[in-house]
Amino acid sequence: MESLVAALPAGGAAAAAAAAVGGLLAAAALAGRAGAKNNSSNAPPGQSATVIPRSLVWLMLLQGPDRVLLPDPPGSFSAPLILGVAEDWRSNSFGVSHNRAHFLSVPGLPIVGNLLQLKEKKPHQTFTKWAEIYGPIYTIKTGASSVVVLNSTQVAKEAMIAKFSSISTRKLSKALSVLTRDKTMVATSDYGDFHKMVKRYVMTSMLGTSGQKQFRDTRNMMVDNMLNTFHTLLNDDPNAPLNFREVFKNELFRLSLIQALGEDVSSVYVEEFGKDISKEEIYQATVVDMMMCAIEVDWRDFFPYLSWVPNRTFETRLLTTEGRRTAVMRALINQQKKRIARGAARISYLDFLLAENTLTDEQLLMLVWEAVIEAADTTLVTTEWAMYEVAKHPGKQDRLYQEIQEVCGNDIVTEDHLPRLPYLNAVFHETLRRHSPVSLVPPRFVHENTNLAGYDVPAGTEMVINLYGCNMNKSDWEEPEEWKPERFLDGRFESADMYKTMAFGAGRRACAGSMQAMYISCTAIARFVQEFAWRLKEGDEDKADTIQLTTNRLYPLYVYLTPRGRE
Ligand code: HEM
Repeated sequence: MESLVAALPAGGAAAAAAAAVGGLLAAAALAGRAGAKNNSSNAPPGQSATVIPRSLVWLMLLQGPDRVLLPDPPGSFSAPLILGVAEDWRSNSFGVSHNRAHFLSVPGLPIVGNLLQLKEKKPHQTFTKWAEIYGPIYTIKTGASSVVVLNSTQVAKEAMIAKFSSISTRKLSKALSVLTRDKTMVATSDYGDFHKMVKRYVMTSMLGTSGQKQFRDTRNMMVDNMLNTFHTLLNDDPNAPLNFREVFKNELFRLSLIQALGEDVSSVYVEEFGKDISKEEIYQATVVDMMMCAIEVDWRDFFPYLSWVPNRTFETRLLTTEGRRTAVMRALINQQKKRIARGAARISYLDFLLAENTLTDEQLLMLVWEAVIEAADTTLVTTEWAMYEVAKHPGKQDRLYQEIQEVCGNDIVTEDHLPRLPYLNAVFHETLRRHSPVSLVPPRFVHENTNLAGYDVPAGTEMVINLYGCNMNKSDWEEPEEWKPERFLDGRFESADMYKTMAFGAGRRACAGSMQAMYISCTAIARFVQEFAWRLKEGDEDKADTIQLTTNRLYPLYVYLTPRGRE
C-alpha cells in the first residue's frame, strides 16, 4: 500500500512544504482527506435523479471498473457501504442529473476507489488521460474520499480567482501536516491573518520588486560561477559530456542560502548530531530528504476509519526526517544569530524576520526553511528542462542565439535586456507549459458551498487542479505535446504576462517567487546560449521521464558544450 500511496504525490510545491509549495502539496491533495465529506452530488439542485440498475452494478464489479462508464460518482466506499453497495445504488443514493455528462466520476473499485489506477506515480499524467475520456472536470475516489479534478484553464481560473473566497483553504496529508508544522508556512497556511502577514514579509524582504533588486548581484554571481565551472570542466576534459544539474544545483543552493540566511554557509555544527555537517549534508537534510518524505503518504490518510491501525515505519521515517530538518535549520539560524549579535547584520530574509520580531522561534524556523527549499528546486527543474529542449532543437537554439546577438551584440546579457528578448521569453513560458514544474496545485479544500462551471460544489469537497492537464489541453493548445516557443509569439499573449500558462497558479495564492524564477531562469538560459552551443549527449533525445514531487527530470541532463566562436 505504501508504494500505491507514494504514487499519488508526484506533483506538488513546497510541500513539504508541500512540495515546495507547488508540487509537494499536490500530494497532500490526494492524501489528507480527514474531514472531507464524500458528497458526490454535484448535480445542480432540483434536478431529477436516475436509479442505477442493479445489473449495472454487478457488471462493473465483474467486468472491472474500467469497462463500464458509470454516470455518477458512486458515493463513499466506506466499509459499511461496500457491504450494501448494490442496495445503496438501488435505493437511489447516487442520483444522476441530466447534465452530469460533463461532470462524471472515473470508475474505480470498491473501498480503494481509483487508488490502484494511480499507481504509476505520475498522477498528473493519469488525470490528463482521464480528462480525454471523462471531460475536463470529473471526480475520483481516493479511498474514502471524493476529489474533484480540474483539467481546464477556464475552470481552474474560475476556481482560483472568481471563487477564491470559497476555495482558499489548503488540505494537507498527515506527512505534510508534520513537515509543515501544521501549515506554518506561506505556501501551506490557510488564507487568513497569518498568511497575509507572512506573505507580506516574504514579498517585501525577498521576492517582490525591491526585494529582488537587493539580490541582483547575487544572481549575477551565480550565473558567472556556472559559466566559469562549465569552462573549467571543458578544459579538464573537452570530450566528456557535462552534468548540467550538478553545476546548476550547487549555485542555486548557494543563492537560496544567501537570500534566506545572509551567508553562503559551507558547514555548520549541529548539536543533535554532535558534529559539523557539510553543505552537501545541509542540502540533503533541508531539501532532498524533505522532497522525498513529502510524497510518503500514510495509507491511513485514505481510510480515516482505520486511523487507529499503527503505521510505525511511516511514522518513524517522517519524524526522523522532520527532526533532522529542524535540527539543521536551528543550527543554521543560531549560527547567523551569532553573526547578528556581533553587529554584522546583512540583507537577508532571516535578518528581516528577526528585526520584525513578531514570530515565535518555530514560525521563524519554518519560514526560513521554506525560503531555502522553494528557491532551491523549481527554478532548477525549469531551467534544466529549458536547456534540454534548447539542446534538442538546434533550429530554435539558433533563433534564440540570433535574437541575443541582435539585441545585446557583444554585451553580456543582463536582466535589463530581458524585456527586449521576446523569443527568450517564449522559450521560458513554453518550457513552463510543456513541463509544468508544479504539475498539481497544492490541494485546495472547498470550505463553503459554491458553484463551479455551473455545478454546485458542496463545502467539504477536495479539489485538485491539474496544471499539467490544463497546459496540455488540446482545446487550448495546438499540438500540446510539441515544445514550440513560437506559439507565444502570435500576438495572442502579452510578453510581460507571467500567467500565460497556469504554471505559477493564479489569483491570490499564485506563486510568490515567479519574478525570481523568471530572472534566474531567463538570464541563465540566455547567457548559456550566448556563451556555448549546446548539444545533447547521444541517446538522450527521448529521456523526458520525470520523478519526485516537482517534475524533476528522471535523468540529469548531460550535454556537450562548444564555446561560441571556437566551433
Ligand atoms: C519556475 C518556478 C516556480 C514555479 C513553476 C512555481 C509554482 C508555484 C505554484 C503552482 C504555486 C501554488 C499556487 C496556488 O496554490 O495557486 C506556488 C506557490 C508559491 N511559490 Fe512558487 N513556483 C516557482 C518558484 C518559486 C520560487 C523561486 C519561490 C521562492 C523563492 C516560490 C515561492 C512560492 C510561495 C511562497 C508560494 C505560496 C504563495 C501563496 O500561497 O500565497 N516559488 N508556486
